[in-house]
Amino acid sequence: MNYEEARRKLAAADQLHVLKYYEELSADQRRELLEQIEITDFSALEHCKKSGDNGRGKFEPLGALELSEIKEKKQYYTEIGVKAIREGKVGAVLLAGGMGTRLGSDGPKGVYDIGLTRPVYIFERLIENMMDVVRQTGAYFHLFIMTSDKNDQVTRAFLKEKSYFGYPEEYVHFFLQKMAPASDYDGHVYLEEKYRISTSPNGNGGWFTSMQEAGLIDFAHERGIEWMNIFAVDNVLQRIADPVFVGATLDAGVSVGAKVVRKNAPREGVGVMCLEDGRPSIVEYYELTDEMVEAKDAKGDPAYNFGVILNYLFNIHSLETLFKGKMPCHVVEKKIPHIGENGQRINPESPNGYKYEELVLDMIHQLDTCLPFEVEREREFAPIKNQTGVDSVESARTLCLKNGIEL
Ligand code: UTP
Repeated sequence: MNYEEARRKLAAADQLHVLKYYEELSADQRRELLEQIEITDFSALEHCKKSGDNGRGKFEPLGALELSEIKEKKQYYTEIGVKAIREGKVGAVLLAGGMGTRLGSDGPKGVYDIGLTRPVYIFERLIENMMDVVRQTGAYFHLFIMTSDKNDQVTRAFLKEKSYFGYPEEYVHFFLQKMAPASDYDGHVYLEEKYRISTSPNGNGGWFTSMQEAGLIDFAHERGIEWMNIFAVDNVLQRIADPVFVGATLDAGVSVGAKVVRKNAPREGVGVMCLEDGRPSIVEYYELTDEMVEAKDAKGDPAYNFGVILNYLFNIHSLETLFKGKMPCHVVEKKIPHIGENGQRINPESPNGYKYEELVLDMIHQLDTCLPFEVEREREFAPIKNQTGVDSVESARTLCLKNGIEL
């Protein structure tokens, strides 16, 4: 794209300020900026602003397969799950493209060391959890790791240096997610350099289309992988390719299984499994009305009682046939470092604009059936979002120690 074309594209999108420093850039920097302008979809910003307050449908409760029922049929489910894993039908997708801004560490979240008496990296904990299943089934399963431009190289180099914590390299695959521009509150994109628009990873909801574009869904078909266990990087206790969960999801004949935990308070800040206009969906905690909070199921328990923990088992065929790709966009308020009015670099102390993200939870609503599968939160839910307090390094350490994991 040449300068004139870039100018026209920016003018149409009300983003002409992007060329503010053009005159002082070197030839290489100019080329880089023009290339970035060419590939950036500014219309996404408008679309996102409009879909940010997307109307929701009619919510109804969706019951979960509860711990007591799972316990009764544990052996049956385990046999189904172990068989599917041994047959190579299950893969795992680690969502590791996030920025981990709340944790405030420089590197990717997975390289964070939560050890107390020895180094215990988050990636290492996750791979140890996978190894439990490898030992149980006698089979390795493929691990696909989603990274972003911001952390790809460091993530790859770290895992290679650590020899994938014992996981065979031929079972580990990387793919990149897309980036989206970040803007101020008026929708004007920020510059992170005088020659570069500020971008951030476009949310975890792009994993499937990014895998398709990287040829990894074709790879999955070639290998006979039918199910993908999507999981977040920051829950250090979660079971991955958990045979009981796999077995129950396959047995239910649904398009997706979702691990859920019983909420610890009626308004706990987690997304809650439900039906929306008759399809599976997730209602955000702030969308729960008083009536929904007070609603009871047939047993007298709260009807909207199960929160998602970002651990899903998706059927690839269902995604290929039902998932339409286009998802609602979530506007997230964040601190965005940028080049200020006078060309100086600014590292804001408080949020100063928006990032635009698609989220995995919106994929669920495009599918037809979902099995919410209850897990014990004390044993399977230790997310690390912050340094201290709720969902933190501290709380995760306490839970690891309770579960007999030495740190
Ligand atoms: P979070 O929503 O907690 O975001 O991600 P984050 O980037 O890790 O942390 P904050 O909000 O900046 O503090 C939940 C999961 O989704 C992944 C994260 O890596 C984590 O596993 N994720 C998030 C992506 O893979 N890509 C994204 O663009 C965003």
